[in-house]
Amino acid sequence: MSEVAEKVKEEEVDLTGANEVIDKYIDMKGALMPVLQAVQDVYGYIPEPTVHLIAERLNVYPSQIYGVLTFYAQFHLEPRGKYIVRVCMGTACHVKGAGRIADTLKDRLKIGHAETTEDLKFTAEYVACIGACGMAPVIMVNDATYGSMTVQKMDEVIAKYKAMD
Ligand code: FES
Repeated sequence: MSEVAEKVKEEEVDLTGANEVIDKYIDMKGALMPVLQAVQDVYGYIPEPTVHLIAERLNVYPSQIYGVLTFYAQFHLEPRGKYIVRVCMGTACHVKGAGRIADTLKDRLKIGHAETTEDLKFTAEYVACIGACGMAPVIMVNDATYGSMTVQKMDEVIAKYKAMD
């Protein structure tokens, strides 16, 4: 478990949001997937205590839930940053210096692929082609796309999001 996850785990997870989600879906057939999706929307990931709560209230084994969570890449068992910085590592971006962009992110925020800053503000992800090869090298921060990235532009983007809440 990462340091960030350990730290978050030490803090109590408020289960109110998860209980509200379960209340909404509990009578629905096949409730598990929508419950997991909605719980992730509430917390940004699936905290371990919510797995046990869901298991108890939906009458399924925790192992079944972990099976679903590990099968579907959309679910995250560890906390993630508010801003997900995706660095495209596809061929076009690679050729145009994606490695340098990833290195800059690592140097400035101390996070590599699938790592999250301690303040839970940023998570880095190295991803395959995101379909904007004409603007290579490309990054995304949540839903915003930034193309023709340079080290200087990377610093500007990082500074912009650091300044935001
Ligand atoms: S290779 Fe990066 S957008 Fe296609």
